[in-house]
Amino acid sequence: MKFGVINPQPYMEPALAELEQEHEVVRLHPEHWSEGEISSTARFCREQGVVAVAGFAQKDAFHHLLINERLGNPVPSRVAFFYCMNKYLMRTLERDAFFYAPVDPLQESDEQIAARIPAHEWPFMLKNTSLSLGRGIFRIANLEELRRVLADYRQDRELQRALARQCAAYLEGVAPQQVPALAPPFVAEHLVDMSRATEYCYEGYVTADGQVVHYGLTEEIYFSNHQALGYLTPPVSISRDMADTIEAWVSAYMQRLAALGYRNQFFNLEFWVMPDGSLHLTEINPRAAHTYHYNYRYSFGSSLYADNLLLAAGQRPARPTPWDQWRAGAPHRFTLIVLITAREPGRVGDILDYDYVDALEAEQGVLIRHVRQRDEVIREAELSAAGVMLQQLWITGDSSMEIIAREREIRSRIYRNPQDAVGYPPFWRI
Ligand SMILES: Nc1ncnc2c1ncn2[C@@H]1O[C@H](COP(=O)(O)OP(=O)(O)O)[C@@H](O)[C@H]1O
Ligand SMILES: [Mg+2]
Repeated sequence: MKFGVINPQPYMEPALAELEQEHEVVRLHPEHWSEGEISSTARFCREQGVVAVAGFAQKDAFHHLLINERLGNPVPSRVAFFYCMNKYLMRTLERDAFFYAPVDPLQESDEQIAARIPAHEWPFMLKNTSLSLGRGIFRIANLEELRRVLADYRQDRELQRALARQCAAYLEGVAPQQVPALAPPFVAEHLVDMSRATEYCYEGYVTADGQVVHYGLTEEIYFSNHQALGYLTPPVSISRDMADTIEAWVSAYMQRLAALGYRNQFFNLEFWVMPDGSLHLTEINPRAAHTYHYNYRYSFGSSLYADNLLLAAGQRPARPTPWDQWRAGAPHRFTLIVLITAREPGRVGDILDYDYVDALEAEQGVLIRHVRQRDEVIREAELSAAGVMLQQLWITGDSSMEIIAREREIRSRIYRNPQDAVGYPPFWRI
């Protein structure tokens, strides 16, 4: 079969080359959602014999829907997609949600907004409902901090216009009575204690007839200062005993999205397992995540890229999935995405030791996603609490112990200045 991949990144190429042993792959670079560009891309695909396309990044998710729709493939409804692009709406589908409330800085005063947050919920989380990649997420401890974030948004006309354009594009052609009455630009919500809850990333898909298929589970690992350390497949902090609970929770949540028309589409769900064992939604993304392809590949031999394309084309993705294998206790490896972030400004080549990076990549064959290039300069203004992502590295091993040892070695050698300040979580010990 012949497939289209939307805006692939350089680090995805080894996986695409593997895909090309079985299928033909055309690389597509659409930029806008205009009628003209979508119809000319679809025409190009038909001329080339491309049966389905896949976008794996948040910014490519809408192109995935629009182009596949033009190719005659079943796609999610606009309304279901819209729920997945708004962090307030996605929470309205959760049963037993923790505290959350809509916030609209353009319609309400600071005092009205502050009054909506119960006293015991301070500090709380204030999240822009339609940004991604960690942007627009604020921990609010007091009224002054709240005022500052709301004022910034009220002044940022450019952001307001961009979000309004997005929203209009997602809802084009949707009957007015189907449009959710409330889709606020911010949501205020309970602040989860990250030192006690564990965050997971879960992937699955909904078939064309509305069945939920479980695909894979990855543990998100954080340092004690909440900076992300890496993403580990399969998880180590929960055992397979939790599989039934997770399946039931995911299926129930996805059933409500399926009822809104979510069909024939992968999804990427993040949730927390709280200290009392209950599950809470972090967010959902209406796409398969490109980064996890290699985790499933190395750990379970699956191909997320192939499966996503097969599903889009109305074919059957492979079984057993990584989740099926994990559940059944099948032999597997562990794969970690090591996240390398900058906590200081400067030229990337002065922050990281590129003799070491080059050796990892060229001599040891470690796959590296160069999010920032060695000659780029990290500016002071870019440094948020979470730091600035420089690189992602994939390491794989037979045991979680091997992974932990390797991650610690890489992290201790890759920076020019030792990163002593980072506190490893208690279980990240050799
Ligand atoms: N209510 C919350 N309490 C604590 N941490 C949160 C909360 N919401 C989000 N976070 C943290 O911020 C990260 C990014 O938030 P998320 O909702 O996934 O947005 P996005 O990934 O689209 O930027 C999460 O992975 C989580 O670690
Ligand atoms: Mg997220």
